[in-house]
Amino acid sequence: MFSERALNIEMSGIRKIFDMAKGEVINLGLGEPDFHPPPEAKEAIYEAVIKGYNKYGPSKGFAELRRAIAEKYSEYGDFTEDNVLITVGGTEAFISTMLALVNPDDDVLYPNPGFVLYKPHTIIAGGKPVDYPIVQENNFIPTQEDLEKRITKKTKAIIVNYPNNPTGGVLEDRDIRMIVEMAEDYNLVIISDEVYFNLVYDSSPKTFLGKYDKLVFINSFSKEFAMTGWRLGYIIAPKEFIEQIGKIHYYMIACPQSPIEYAALKTLQKSEYYAEMMKEKFRRRRDLMYELLSKIDGVKPNFPKGAFYMFPRIEINADPMDIVKEMVKKGVLCTPGEAFGSAGKKHIRFSYAASEDDIRKGMQIFDEVLEKFR
Ligand SMILES: Cc1ncc(COP(=O)(O)O)c(C=O)c1O
Repeated sequence: MFSERALNIEMSGIRKIFDMAKGEVINLGLGEPDFHPPPEAKEAIYEAVIKGYNKYGPSKGFAELRRAIAEKYSEYGDFTEDNVLITVGGTEAFISTMLALVNPDDDVLYPNPGFVLYKPHTIIAGGKPVDYPIVQENNFIPTQEDLEKRITKKTKAIIVNYPNNPTGGVLEDRDIRMIVEMAEDYNLVIISDEVYFNLVYDSSPKTFLGKYDKLVFINSFSKEFAMTGWRLGYIIAPKEFIEQIGKIHYYMIACPQSPIEYAALKTLQKSEYYAEMMKEKFRRRRDLMYELLSKIDGVKPNFPKGAFYMFPRIEINADPMDIVKEMVKKGVLCTPGEAFGSAGKKHIRFSYAASEDDIRKGMQIFDEVLEKFR
């Protein structure tokens, strides 16, 4: 009765583990800021509703918001509102892009470990997901060799995600050049998931934007302005991409949420300081978690340069899934690396979108739990 595309994808198993948690927990499993949206954004959403922004809006999003986004990224290219599509979060940006680009049997390269959308979205679009490894020894950046050996005549696109979830990896300029040159050589579309664009701690953002002509750049208000539940994202791409992706988007969602768009515009105009404030807090928490993890035996932490995740490798002879289950029993939520693909199997993802106090307690309990497995 059901389509192969539905039957061929699975719900993520992470929830089941989290459901085992009882009572008060220390949550180091969060994939979102532990903040609420900026006060200006909250006021603006109320204002929007009172002012009457309760109707359908333009399918591609409010022109003023699209212009504001083009302007925000003007240092990377000569963008106009025609290069911008407002979407229902990065998630809808992604599925609309895949449905507009991928034909049956096209291959799409995606990272392993990687964020949970890439494989199912490729399958839903009728394509074939082909994973490429990213490993800790190489700062979770793919090698040219690993990418090239997976490219065939059928390869349509490569998905890249930096700053990276689940690892916190960030690209260097030379990595961006390598991937762009390869995409040029093999005529691939680059789909760059940059929903953590602003969360690069030790340098300016390292982005694909403005560096390739067949680029779909995806970002979102979710992480930058702590608006995950408001569901607003956007694509920046060449006009002909926006036209095609925009058609799919129209038939899926009609238009983005008008009051949220209104509030997002005000947020862009007034709340840059808020994103900076969160980033400074995340930076301190990253340093703290790294310091604490470095003292724990049997764990090799990575030093993440972006996003708000750490992805240490477990070096003792134990299944990280068992460790995570034990952690949950002790009231600490974290995510087994294998939730992000087979290549994450030896890892655990800790999110530092949590208070310094929770990070301290969580790392202490992690050490105690590991003692049982050592
Ligand atoms: C790498 C990555 N891409 C995309 C998304 C989806 O974000 P949005 O809330 O904008 O749909 C997330 C959310 O966790 C993410 O981590």
